[in-house]
Amino acid sequence: MDRKQFLKSTLLLGGLGLAGSALLIESCKKSSNTAAVNFTLDLSQSVNSALNSVGGSVASNNVVVICTATNTWVALSQLCTHQGCSLSYSKSAKQLICPCHGGTFDTSGNVVSGPPPSALTKYTVTKSGTVLTITG
Ligand code: FES
Repeated sequence: MDRKQFLKSTLLLGGLGLAGSALLIESCKKSSNTAAVNFTLDLSQSVNSALNSVGGSVASNNVVVICTATNTWVALSQLCTHQGCSLSYSKSAKQLICPCHGGTFDTSGNVVSGPPPSALTKYTVTKSGTVLTITG
């Protein structure tokens, strides 16, 4: 292999390595922020009874479901958009609060304060009988 061939093959392998790294980074981003959600919560079960009252919430499958008004629920990712800490819902503040660096979100998922760079992922909630289905 002469010098010219060596440089060509080295550049080609380096380019493939960079492309592969970029793909890996992109796939990691997607898996942490946009994981598919599809689960149900039965309001007739005592473990979900908080969702029968305005201001009540239940966390399940890394999603916080909040009853924001009579027969109205929102479902938001429980994972903070800053560094992925698990959020808690404060009924009195009507906000999701991050224990790691104090980031806060409103019940639409928008950032209210702190370091989070973006809003929370919001999921669809549908009700059939006593069962809420959360998808997205
Ligand atoms: S991880 Fe939530 S504010 Fe930093």
